[in-house]
Amino acid sequence: MALIFVTRKIPDIGIKWMRDGGHEVVVSEKDRVLTPKELKAELSSRPYEGVVSLLTDTIDEKVLKAAPSVKIVSNYAVGYNNIDVEAMEDAGVVVTNTPGVLTDTVAEYATALILAVAKRIPEADKFTRAGKYKAWAPELLLGSDLAGKKLGIVGAGRIGQGVARRLSIGFGMDVIYYDIAKNEKLEKKMDCEYCGELEVLLKQADVVSLHVPLLPSTKHLINAERLAMMKSSAYLINTSRGPVIDESALVAALKDGTIRGAGLDVFEDEPKLARGLKSLNNVVITPHIASASEETRDKMSQLVAFNMNEFFLGREVPNMVFKK
Ligand code: GLV
Ligand code: GLV
Repeated sequence: MALIFVTRKIPDIGIKWMRDGGHEVVVSEKDRVLTPKELKAELSSRPYEGVVSLLTDTIDEKVLKAAPSVKIVSNYAVGYNNIDVEAMEDAGVVVTNTPGVLTDTVAEYATALILAVAKRIPEADKFTRAGKYKAWAPELLLGSDLAGKKLGIVGAGRIGQGVARRLSIGFGMDVIYYDIAKNEKLEKKMDCEYCGELEVLLKQADVVSLHVPLLPSTKHLINAERLAMMKSSAYLINTSRGPVIDESALVAALKDGTIRGAGLDVFEDEPKLARGLKSLNNVVITPHIASASEETRDKMSQLVAFNMNEFFLGREVPNMVFKK
């Protein structure tokens, strides 16, 4: 039996699973993100051995110092850029994430963002609510078609492939992808073309959808120079991590027509938005909810608990994250 701290309430099922596993589970009483100081204070208040962290918690060396008894950090997210994995490995602390269970949900969401911005749905909704719909008009709120256009997937992992499949089968888009290596298996499964260089993809794609993890090498992967390579009719979609895009450069590109539009679920300095972003009509912005379906958040909660329980049973830990 272990003592486990959950930094913020997650769906009940996972808490129940950990308790059923015989563990004492303490859930933060504040239903908000803890400040680094509060997190350290909580973790040093009792000899916790397990932590369930969220993507909003920075788990680094300082946190470990405050919580030397911690043996495992089970992150409630697939992305784990909030955790200093190297420091955890050096200290012998196991880190796990929640891959797989959110793939379909996030792929659906990225698809929804593509449709929302290309068909101007939020803008049209706002227009209609404001009582501006006076008469049908031939050139009212014209958007773009997707059929026959090129979808550029940046990062062809599980989610990227899920988006590619949906847009290709469902909407008749041609898929090109960029990744660190050509994916022969993927190319056998579906019709798509590898771009060995990101620039090649950016120049051709009508929709660019980002699905890379946040790493030093992917920070500002999309910057002013690369935005300038995109077609002026193109859309940029981000459901990965905000800092992959230089958000100020994107605001400028959306303003001056360098690209046509964007759909963003993540932001460089979340929850803050870059100056000027929210006053633009050609961007759809949502509060990091791509995996937020009832079903998936329950599954993530279960997976977080499963990872934790298996660890304390001394079994091989599923979904362990290694230094990249
Ligand atoms: C959400 O952003 C996640 O990484 O799970
Ligand atoms: C994340 O789960 C990915 O592989 O895209």
